Amino acid sequence: MNFKEHIRVVENWPQEGISFKDITTLLQNGPAFKGAIDELKQLIQHLEIDVIAGPEARGFVIGCPLAYALGVGFAPIRKPGKLPFDTIEAGYDLEYGKDKLAMHTDAIKPGQRVLIADDLLATGGTISTAINLIEQLGGEVVGAAFLIELTYLTGREKMGNVDVYSLLKY
Ligand code: PRP
Repeated sequence: MNFKEHIRVVENWPQEGISFKDITTLLQNGPAFKGAIDELKQLIQHLEIDVIAGPEARGFVIGCPLAYALGVGFAPIRKPGKLPFDTIEAGYDLEYGKDKLAMHTDAIKPGQRVLIADDLLATGGTISTAINLIEQLGGEVVGAAFLIELTYLTGREKMGNVDVYSLLKY
């Protein structure tokens, strides 16, 4: 399936110079959404994953159906102030802006094999922060899966030893 034809590219949003990859047009098409999750599953199912972790909000949209398809759990990575139990936090730079992410201290058990899932790899700031949080909790990040990778932003270089799996490249 040609998934790129289901991605809407919006120029100069949310800022001048940003070419935004809008996945809502893929999500609203049942066969395209299912096909994309099924293909991502094929890419990563050899990794023997115990749990998938995904950053809000669009990481939930990709990570949850992938976790369901694999029959593994899902650990949300959230912006601070959203999780009710004990949390750890770490900071990061965005493609446009700065932010922090948080996880519950019991979201990952020591030694668990964790796949990170998100819609998009841009600068890699979000995912390198997610790796930091998961490793603080004792998890082993065995891969990071994305619907879209913006190769011109070289986020892959921030991943260290973590293998990157992406369905679409721009
Ligand atoms: C977007 C996207 C990724 C991240 C990629 O999320 O969904 O999580 O940015 O950028 P990076 O590789 O440069 O870190 P955003 O922070 O906009 O949050 P949202 O999903 O809640 O819109």
